[in-house]
Amino acid sequence: MDKILVIGSSNADLIATMEQFPVAGETIEGVSFQQAMGGKGANQALAAHRAGGDVTFITSLGNDVNGQNAFQYYKNEGLDVSLSLLTDNEPTGTAMIWVDKKGENSIVIIPGANKELTPEYIIAVEEKIANADFIVLQMEIPYETVKTICEIAVKKGKKILLNVAPACHLDDDILKAVHVLVVNETEAEIISGEKMEELGEEAIVNKLLIMGVQNVVLTLGKEGSMFKNKEEQLKIPAFKVDTIDSTAAGDTFCGAMVAELSKGHRMKEALEFATAAAAICVTRMGAQPSIPSEKEVRKFLNHRKQEI
Ligand code: RIB
Ligand code: NA
Repeated sequence: MDKILVIGSSNADLIATMEQFPVAGETIEGVSFQQAMGGKGANQALAAHRAGGDVTFITSLGNDVNGQNAFQYYKNEGLDVSLSLLTDNEPTGTAMIWVDKKGENSIVIIPGANKELTPEYIIAVEEKIANADFIVLQMEIPYETVKTICEIAVKKGKKILLNVAPACHLDDDILKAVHVLVVNETEAEIISGEKMEELGEEAIVNKLLIMGVQNVVLTLGKEGSMFKNKEEQLKIPAFKVDTIDSTAAGDTFCGAMVAELSKGHRMKEALEFATAAAAICVTRMGAQPSIPSEKEVRKFLNHRKQEI
């Protein structure tokens, strides 16, 4: 089995649920409050681990209650976090999450300790990159760090899976370094500089391929996802479920997909598995508490096949 290295953020998620989001200047009464662990890096590392992947996770947490708890929790779950940081300089990253009655969310992130995952630190742990097969990245750590990891990974011939969340522009050398780019519609628009409405999904994905990406996965929410490279194109439909909280659905999708790829499965199987994992995730509250195990995903897939 291939080795997966996730380098990315960890956050303490403060989750408020409400009927509908307040507008500027408005005060409303919410429905519930919950604190859970999250962060796109941590969610993807856990999703890959729970899906049966061999995962190492490098992250930076504050040396505070949230950070210490998260560190211990990742260790207990069986993630290798031996190269992660517990810093005294910054508090653990925080995410303020609003969830409305449709399960849609709005998130504000205060990066805190995530900023300490610097290019210098990555260079110091370069050996870990040499030992991994898949490197999984998101954009909640400094941009320069992502760039440095890409440079090292290319030199060492490693496969990079980059989930461009939160959305941002990417330099050409990052795009060319990436093996699989996972983007939603907004992210695809920002990177390609095109509008989905004007060009359509396929043309935007083609543009990303022309820009140098080898494999593109475009996630389409309730419409499922689309995959394309020079040889192959796939459309994977989503499963119909009752959405309670979509937080971490994208992370679960990425982590589950890379775990399946690391076991040698083809892209089509990996995407079906990832789609099922994300479907389970949206039926539960919170980021990490909602990420399913491999067993749950296989069971879900079996049930759904019987229904068809
Ligand atoms: O993708 C979901 C995650 O985004 C949350 O867990 C939150 O921490 C933010 O990083
Ligand atoms: Na969820």
